[in-house]
Amino acid sequence: MYLCRMAEDLMIIQGNKTEQYQSLIPQIKGLLEGETDLVANLANLAAALKEQFDWLWVGFYLVRSFGGNPDELVVGPFQGPVACTRIKKGKGVCGTSWAEAKTIIVPDVEKFPGHIACSSLSKSEIGVPVIRNSKVVAVLDADSEQLDQFDTIDQRYLEEIVNLVQF
Ligand code: SME
Repeated sequence: MYLCRMAEDLMIIQGNKTEQYQSLIPQIKGLLEGETDLVANLANLAAALKEQFDWLWVGFYLVRSFGGNPDELVVGPFQGPVACTRIKKGKGVCGTSWAEAKTIIVPDVEKFPGHIACSSLSKSEIGVPVIRNSKVVAVLDADSEQLDQFDTIDQRYLEEIVNLVQF
């Protein structure tokens, strides 16, 4: 039997948020090492985050251009329930993170004007822009069934994690 390099189980740890990220980050570096295919890397990254944190949804929206029309976010690799396919700039949490080129933490999605509900189970959310050459090229989005799930610890580590990916 040929065992692929990725077939080793990810080591999932208990512990506080910081400990979880600090255990996960070296493993993510290992997953990404030597692989240049963007879809492969985003898919494994989404899977690793889902396995460690078990959020409702985690994945990527990619900035895509459509000859002459305004760019849009289009859903990319993710883990969780099926999601909205396209999001316009400035719309929802992801579109706002894109437009403002900054991380948006939403403790209660019902209080975020223009929130786009892909699942009624989602209660809180974080959108982290992926910036390359001063342009947002994608947004990492995570949704939780718990209110107030995401904070500046998530922001710090997720920003670090998205910077590990070669776009
Ligand atoms: N809630 C997001 C849409 C994407 S899904 O949650 C997966 C938003 O407001 O941008």
